Amino acid sequence: MKAIEIRNKYLNFFKEHGHTVIPSASLIPENDPSVLFTTAGMQPLVPYLLGEKHPDGKRLTDYQKCVRTNDIDEVGDNRHLTFFEMLGNWSLGDYFKEESIQMSFEFLTKELGIPVEKLSVTCFAGDEDCPRDVLSAECWKKAGILDGHIYFYGKDDNWWIAGEEGPCGPDTEMFYDTGKPACGPDCQPSCDCGKYVEIWNNVFMEYFKDKNGYSKLKQKNVDTGLGLERMTMLLQGKKTPFDTELFAPIMNKLEELQKEDIIESRRIISEHLRSSMMIISDGGRPSNIDRGYVLRRLIRRMIRHMNKLQIDLNELSNLIELNVETLKEMYPDLEKNKETIKSVINEEKDKFVKTLAHGEREFQKEMKKVQEQGKTEIDGQVVFKLYDTYGFPPEVTKDLAQENNMTIDMKKFDELFKAHQEKSRMGSTQKFKGGLADQNEKTIAYHTATHLLHQALKTVLGDHVKQSGSNITEERLRFDFTHPQKMTKEEIQEVEDLVNEQIKRDLPVTCEEMSYEDAKKSGAIGLFTDKYGDKVKVYTIGDFSKEICGGPHVTHTGDMGTFKIKKEESSSSGVRRIKAVLIK
Ligand code: ALA
Repeated sequence: MKAIEIRNKYLNFFKEHGHTVIPSASLIPENDPSVLFTTAGMQPLVPYLLGEKHPDGKRLTDYQKCVRTNDIDEVGDNRHLTFFEMLGNWSLGDYFKEESIQMSFEFLTKELGIPVEKLSVTCFAGDEDCPRDVLSAECWKKAGILDGHIYFYGKDDNWWIAGEEGPCGPDTEMFYDTGKPACGPDCQPSCDCGKYVEIWNNVFMEYFKDKNGYSKLKQKNVDTGLGLERMTMLLQGKKTPFDTELFAPIMNKLEELQKEDIIESRRIISEHLRSSMMIISDGGRPSNIDRGYVLRRLIRRMIRHMNKLQIDLNELSNLIELNVETLKEMYPDLEKNKETIKSVINEEKDKFVKTLAHGEREFQKEMKKVQEQGKTEIDGQVVFKLYDTYGFPPEVTKDLAQENNMTIDMKKFDELFKAHQEKSRMGSTQKFKGGLADQNEKTIAYHTATHLLHQALKTVLGDHVKQSGSNITEERLRFDFTHPQKMTKEEIQEVEDLVNEQIKRDLPVTCEEMSYEDAKKSGAIGLFTDKYGDKVKVYTIGDFSKEICGGPHVTHTGDMGTFKIKKEESSSSGVRRIKAVLIK
């Protein structure tokens, strides 16, 4: 069964069981600057798990694009992926353990045809926070799971929470027996030997954890997640996801192009290429901080491994084309954004090639110094300097060190890197606060002008325009947005004219409060200022603009003055920056 067939079967099955199919959210969480990427299907649903009413009802299902980067260095082995698709179904205060388990069992055995002997399940063993989950075990038994195939484990294995705080609860996990011989008499689903592979996780979310401990949620929810790549691999009897149709075309192409034969490198290239393409397609751009840095790492690591295999970097565009062909049925946006993806990746490649040449020279100098001192470890300070001053990735330093029988002090590097990230984050928070604290007639007018500009850019340049930054002072507005190339004079003029036309029309500015979902449905553009999950404010400017925003704004556009774009320049790769003024 192909991945797309499994996805369709899943969504249809849950649709038939009263669930509404909702679309996959963006990989880049909207209005939630606190997380880098969407890491699970439940993440965009947090407000509803906490009790807010979902417009599509209490039973939902979707496929969710996810990126998890904690294991980035493991990619290259036979199972780790940074991008994956999670199939999920949710009960928001509706069904609970019995029905959830019954449906999972039915889907696995009837829809996917997995023989029951191949299935084992695990349940929560109980502790001081939550009792033993006897009910789940009973439900599994009743559904048809064989005797001796039900296991109980503690919080380490059978408790699920995203991060440190939030909705959580005991879970029950389903495992597939690959048929590999047991590694010993104690071999169980919790064992890492590869005999048992986790295929699905049903979380019974009835708790909320914060600094003070656990409390009960308003409602009992079910949150499930089934990893599509893994399921595809198992059902096809393949040993790794790289052998399935999702990766095979690109893996084969790499084999054709390579001059060195290193399977780990081929996996890294194909995996990181897919991840990068998905992130870029959802609006991510490489930079030196947060999610931009993750994307940068993915692209650069991919390029390093292309170098290892001695594949011409000019092949990148062809590889992207090939991946679009492979994946477009599942992710049609890839085709729509193909040219952007190509230009972002190629631009990053060009930067990296320069960086590598420069950084390697610096590395050689530093290495000599260390060797002269008779040492074999390169100081974290040096690794950080290479990164900070020359943009040289620590992973490359590590590789080069290894090639020269040396090590690097990664711990020290991590400390310095964290401190550096913290500093730049504080810097941007302060700037942001400054802008908002400083509200007067002028800044308020600039705020409204920013909305007009945002919409005008979308109208003139296209819907790919997404805000990636905004800063307002009494003198000017500054607006960063995704757009692959420099704007032409004509486009700038058109945008200016469009904004001025709206000012002249003296449009009323109105504000409504609504749920985030309703705001999105109403066609409002999302911003990053409101924390996701709260009721949001939507500001409407006549028939021209509708945007989620905290405000404040002018009441009518008429008195704002004349809008003039002073500068249009590059801000970072694929991101343009406009500075504009209002002249009275
Ligand atoms: N949220 C659960 C997981 O990610 C289903 O495993």
